[in-house]
Amino acid sequence: MNRQKILVTGGAGYIGSHACVELLQENYDVVVIDNLSNSKSDSLARVEKIAGKSLTFVQADIRDKQALSNIFTAHDIYAVMHFAGLKAVGESCEQPIRYYQNNVCGTLTLTEVMEQFGVKKIIFSSSATVYGEPDTVKYTEDLPVFGATNPYGKSKAMVEDILKDLAQADVLSNASKPWEIVLLRYFNPIGAHISGLIGEDPNGIPNNLVPYVSQVAVGKLEQLSVFGGDYPTIDGTGVRDYIHVVDLVKGHLCALNSLGKGSGCKAYNLGAGKGYSVLEIIAAFERITEKTIQYKIVARRTGDVAENYADPGLALRELGWKTEKQLDEMVADTWRWQSQNPSGYE
Ligand code: NAD
Ligand code: UFG
Repeated sequence: MNRQKILVTGGAGYIGSHACVELLQENYDVVVIDNLSNSKSDSLARVEKIAGKSLTFVQADIRDKQALSNIFTAHDIYAVMHFAGLKAVGESCEQPIRYYQNNVCGTLTLTEVMEQFGVKKIIFSSSATVYGEPDTVKYTEDLPVFGATNPYGKSKAMVEDILKDLAQADVLSNASKPWEIVLLRYFNPIGAHISGLIGEDPNGIPNNLVPYVSQVAVGKLEQLSVFGGDYPTIDGTGVRDYIHVVDLVKGHLCALNSLGKGSGCKAYNLGAGKGYSVLEIIAAFERITEKTIQYKIVARRTGDVAENYADPGLALRELGWKTEKQLDEMVADTWRWQSQNPSGYE
């Protein structure tokens, strides 16, 4: 029986809450630190309901060294899953200091305290955005981490660099207990837990496609703007690699299982390896919800690429992970969450 204790930063958020369910169901003990800046603690109550088990929640900021020290003093933490971060691309362009402060300084404080307590295993939520705008649509991990187009993406690339340096310092010093770091580069997480109890609950008008479409389907928003109809893609609209959030968090469990055997810092793509266009997503929603999605094609959104999808081969070879859920299941689960909770956790 597994009783390792995992610290989940940002555990009340969209992906973190799904990770907590999976961890509890796999018999890990869970401690969550979250400042609730983009979430509500109700998500954690629902996590406990789904899993039939309880977790420990500490409402605090990861930049609060004392709060972190208290956690590491009180709990024998095996590893950290680090989800806490701000993630809105547009907002990051308006408030770069806040984004660097939160995402970069937050990770520095976290890793500093981890090192102090000798907890040197971390799984970090990175993003496909760290690849910038490469000359290919199929992204492999050996592409340079270069050219992210906004402060959010740059903050992810900076954190990757910092974590690589931590691992490298331990190689140079031949540390007896070296850092073990996994960088997971997410493509486009969508969907929700099959119970419909937890899901994505964006503040205000959603920036991302799937939350927007599901709010049109539920009648909260009138019409989707499709950003660009003249891309060199299958139907002129942007193509992305959508991945079910439960598949995504299962990738974290596989990464967790890979720890304890070595040292260093490894990056993996977490994606399905297949892209869908905006119009294909709309069609899937219409099929599943039996509702008409009103949309109009407008100008391209600045900073968008035409198409990208993951090469997920490395995660399969080294972590034994691949996605299992198909598009219709992603949409059906999104819809169950949205229709049962039209106002999110409120
Ligand atoms: P989310 O906003 O739902 O969850 C992030 C959580 O972190 C929130 O609960 C928030 O309150 C908390 N948080 C933020 N700053 C904090 C701080 N300083 N101290 C403590 N808690 C803090 O976002 P999500 O979609 O669940 O994303 C989780 C992680 O995955 C983020 O790091 C995000 O950048 C990354 N990511 C997300 C996507 C995506 O499309 N959702 C894609 C790639 C990477
Ligand atoms: N789109 C629309 N209308 C909308 C929203 C999006 O047409 O209202 C289109 C976009 O132009 C794009 C596709 O839908 O072609 C997906 O857009 P999202 O905003 O849902 O996702 P992105 O691929 O732009 O970005 C997401 C996350 C980023 C992350 C990136 C790569 O939002 O944080 O995936 O992981 F960095």
